[in-house]
Amino acid sequence: MEKITVKDILALKNKRKITMLTAYDYPLASLVDAAGIDMILVGDSVANVVLGLDSTTKVGMYEMLHHAKAVTRAVKNALVIGDMPYESYQSRPDEAVKNARRFLDEAKCDCVKLEWFDKCLEVTEKIIKAAIPVMGHIGLTPQTADKLGGFKVQGKDAEAAKRLIEQAKKLEGLGCFAIVLECVPDKIAGIITKELKIPTIGIGAGIDCDGQVLVSNDMLGLFDRYTPKFVKKYINLSPMILEAIKTYKQEVLESKFPAPEHSFTIKKEELEKI
Ligand code: KIV
Repeated sequence: MEKITVKDILALKNKRKITMLTAYDYPLASLVDAAGIDMILVGDSVANVVLGLDSTTKVGMYEMLHHAKAVTRAVKNALVIGDMPYESYQSRPDEAVKNARRFLDEAKCDCVKLEWFDKCLEVTEKIIKAAIPVMGHIGLTPQTADKLGGFKVQGKDAEAAKRLIEQAKKLEGLGCFAIVLECVPDKIAGIITKELKIPTIGIGAGIDCDGQVLVSNDMLGLFDRYTPKFVKKYINLSPMILEAIKTYKQEVLESKFPAPEHSFTIKKEELEKI
């Protein structure tokens, strides 16, 4: 299998569903890639599910590049997307292009994702003009959730839904290669998907999107502080890991671990010389 490109993702629209998951480190990125997932997002959700922070706005370029480098070291095939943190473009729009480029040059990502905000269109345009592929993100945008009334489904009335459709069309017009639709009613996501020539990737946006994304730690049961309605847990790893750690503790306390097969030996004659 060859490395997936932005062109490949565009070509998948109306051919087959597109798969995307997050990853933040080498071991998980290796598994996601080995499973043949099309796109891996180094999401700023790392703040919540890995770093124990209460907001995605609390990670910056330092953290994002650190995690993105670990992911790209592992990935052979998937398209890797660097998620631009709040400070890199929302609080400092003038630095957006420079920061987007750092994801490609330093972390070896293939493209970047940014969330909708007041100056989204001008910032997106500048990054795309700098030849950096951009994935848009509309609907519930966690970096500005406070301005959206909290972590709520977006586009629930006709006016709000029309605004989302407009945002999606504008991002497509600027040259975004795909758009994440987060927490949008399924019928509205379906309309946006039909209206656009670029793929839509849904998270809490129903079955009609061109593709789906989930936070890996959510779908693997590795994060249980809260679980949004749209998450399906494909496995619940936390209790399994807890059980393994408890068994290890018990075996150490009872001198059952390490067994001979986990130990190193020295020849008897060498031992006798000591
Ligand atoms: O940071 C993230 O994980 C995301 C996904 C929810 C799309 O932006």
